[in-house]
Amino acid sequence: MSKTIAIIGAGQMGSGIAQTVATHGMTVLLADTGLDIAEKAVAKIDTALGKLVGRGKIEVSDAEAALSRITPVGDYDRMDEADFIIEAATEKEQIKQAIFEKAGEKLAPDAIMASNTSSIPITRMANYAPDPARFIGLHFFNPVPVMGLIEVIPGLATSEDTTARTSAFAQGLGKEVVLSQDEPGFVVNRILLPMINEAVFVLGQSTADIEDIDKGCRLGLNHPMGPLQLADFVGLDTCLDILMVLYKTTRDTKYRPAPLLVKYVEAGWLGRKTGRGFYDYSGEAPEPTR
Ligand code: CAA
Ligand code: NAD
Repeated sequence: MSKTIAIIGAGQMGSGIAQTVATHGMTVLLADTGLDIAEKAVAKIDTALGKLVGRGKIEVSDAEAALSRITPVGDYDRMDEADFIIEAATEKEQIKQAIFEKAGEKLAPDAIMASNTSSIPITRMANYAPDPARFIGLHFFNPVPVMGLIEVIPGLATSEDTTARTSAFAQGLGKEVVLSQDEPGFVVNRILLPMINEAVFVLGQSTADIEDIDKGCRLGLNHPMGPLQLADFVGLDTCLDILMVLYKTTRDTKYRPAPLLVKYVEAGWLGRKTGRGFYDYSGEAPEPTR
């Protein structure tokens, strides 16, 4: 029988996870703070699948079948049908705690509860779930349908069976798995976020402008996106949230967020998702904002 995967949080990550899971033949229940948001996310997935059809990457029938496997839901009632409940909501611990407590009431006896958190300690969040042995970090990368990696992060109480089943699920999505200990930022964000943060310091000190900082890393390091463009892509609020977790959990000042990053978030300029961050996305091509 095909697996059922519940996803809570239908933003850019939750939608990407839903698309990927559904194109791999599994059934998806997609929730957010309201049914309307989950329905809008499904409409966006429809558009994304349509683009792939247009580019000859998948057949129309496969796109239609994938879409039909995703059900937007307005509450957690049916989540007792799920083999995995994957939380992919905003990177705030209180939000995630409330989700684990509420969805935990529906977690089936053998099901796994996973968090797509970018940085919040798994061992600590396991206490909000009904069974810490069946709680784990399952860290996807953005854009989920394209990126080849998933980090799997067992907490201290996570059972070996949960880790094995979660890794098998991730591999079943066609991804490579990196197993990380539950340390701040895990592996990839521990390395990536200091780079993004440093790029914002470089901008704040007027060492170079936005385009040149990004051009430097694209052409000088062969990165597909410059760090400021990537920060916009991730979401500046998410970048700041991750840095704050790194800073607070390690108390190491090397993770202090660049003041300019804080300012952008305070202005509500969160990157691509709000139409403005280090770049303005209102025109045909992104334009630097400084
Ligand atoms: N669904 C499915 N496929 C998609 C897609 C989507 N939403 N978006 C793009 N693609 C596919 C395209 O079909 C295309 O496939 P082919 O090469 O087979 O034709 C491919 O991806 C490239 O797409 P484009 O040509 O449109 O765009 P691009 O070449 O400019 O690449 C990009 C876009 C893949 C996003 C690339 O710029 C990139 O890799 N950027 C860096 C992304 C990155 O670093 N992500 C990690 C962020 S950090 C993180 O996720 C962790 C965290 O906790 C913050
Ligand atoms: P996003 O802002 O695009 O989406 C967050 C979604 O969570 C929104 O739709 C919001 O309405 C929803 N939400 C907020 N409170 C909720 C609640 N109580 N119940 C259900 N849904 C709720 O953010 P995102 O980029 O999709 O990030 C989501 C998670 O994935 C975060 O933990 C983030 O750190 C992590 N993550 C992000 C990236 C990235 O590149 N953006 C990559 C890997 C992991």
